[in-house]
Amino acid sequence: MKIGVVGLGTVGYGVVEILTNEKQRLEKTINQEVTIKYGCGLEEVDLPEEIIYTKDYHDVINDPEVDVVVELIGGTTIAKDIILSAINNKKHVVTANKALLAHDGKEIFKAAKENDVHIFYEASVGGGIPVLVSQKESLIANNTKEIVGILNGTTNFILTLMENENLDFDEALTIADGLGYVEANPALDLDGIDAAHKICILAQNGFHQYIDFDKIKAVGIRNITKTDMDYAKKLGYRFKMIAQAKEVNDGIGIDVAPTLVNRNELVASVMDSYNVVEIDNDYVNNIIYYGRGAGRYVTASAVVSDIIKTSQQEKWSHDYPDCQHVYPITKSKYYIRASKPLDVDYETYYSEKADHIYITHEMELDEITTRLNDEDYVIFKVRG
Ligand code: HSE
Repeated sequence: MKIGVVGLGTVGYGVVEILTNEKQRLEKTINQEVTIKYGCGLEEVDLPEEIIYTKDYHDVINDPEVDVVVELIGGTTIAKDIILSAINNKKHVVTANKALLAHDGKEIFKAAKENDVHIFYEASVGGGIPVLVSQKESLIANNTKEIVGILNGTTNFILTLMENENLDFDEALTIADGLGYVEANPALDLDGIDAAHKICILAQNGFHQYIDFDKIKAVGIRNITKTDMDYAKKLGYRFKMIAQAKEVNDGIGIDVAPTLVNRNELVASVMDSYNVVEIDNDYVNNIIYYGRGAGRYVTASAVVSDIIKTSQQEKWSHDYPDCQHVYPITKSKYYIRASKPLDVDYETYYSEKADHIYITHEMELDEITTRLNDEDYVIFKVRG
């Protein structure tokens, strides 16, 4: 197989390295040569001499010798053109592009089916954690009931720093940024958009329905203060950026929000830039995937595995109907902090200094907002 890698950043270069290091073993495994013909990027990196460097992705997608196009530039514009053009030229596609698949997956998967080519995208969710292949292959006997995850490593890293190092949000963000964790557009991480892309992809494959990404509600972590983090700790909780999708009667409930998780829950112990995905299925029940969700070799590992998988015959099916109703998940317990006592049903009450803290019973958000109409308060979801 001949491969064109488009995008020679952190992950792209990692793909070149892994394919070079593991070439012989991988070739033996699938009984065919595995050769990178092109490396395409805006700036040339130190490529092995047998790889042709080009700045123009058309060289890659129009070369009849190329069997697999690997799209690693990200974004939803040029990347879409690269992927659709490659598919229409009968090339298999491997991508890590969560934003593009969350927005335009339906169109892309349809084109792949019409052209009878593979599209694999394991690296788009959970870095190297093999969660999509599990959904599409190993769990195919099951119907998914619920998916819960920490799907964004950057925000998990920031929350870990805030808690462990006693930092406020801005201080932790500066450190995360300095370490190269934060996306070029920080809103993707901080406002929950990246996690929303990923839960959208997981939910589509889990519930076998296309979800209109624009209907997903995401709340980010910018409003989490040290004050609330300390109260959460005192009450036995820890803040986590939780993405969740579950079956509801006539549709799918899905959302992304900073959430207080009981410290005894497994999800609460996932720290630093690690990801976790819990999938509840009807036959196999609860399965948990845990691992690094980002990083050069972590992500490149998933990309290389996908490249090798294009040698298999069986295509992944994405023949899904559109989800008719996408709902935010608003029925939950809630953490509320106010500067005076509130008229709210609660299961836990705590007071310190001038603060009044409530953990409510499970209830609809509307019930709280209606009742506390004129009050000034801070509110977060509570899990469990
Ligand atoms: N910004 C993403 C994260 C990168 O922090 O999880 C991996 O998708």
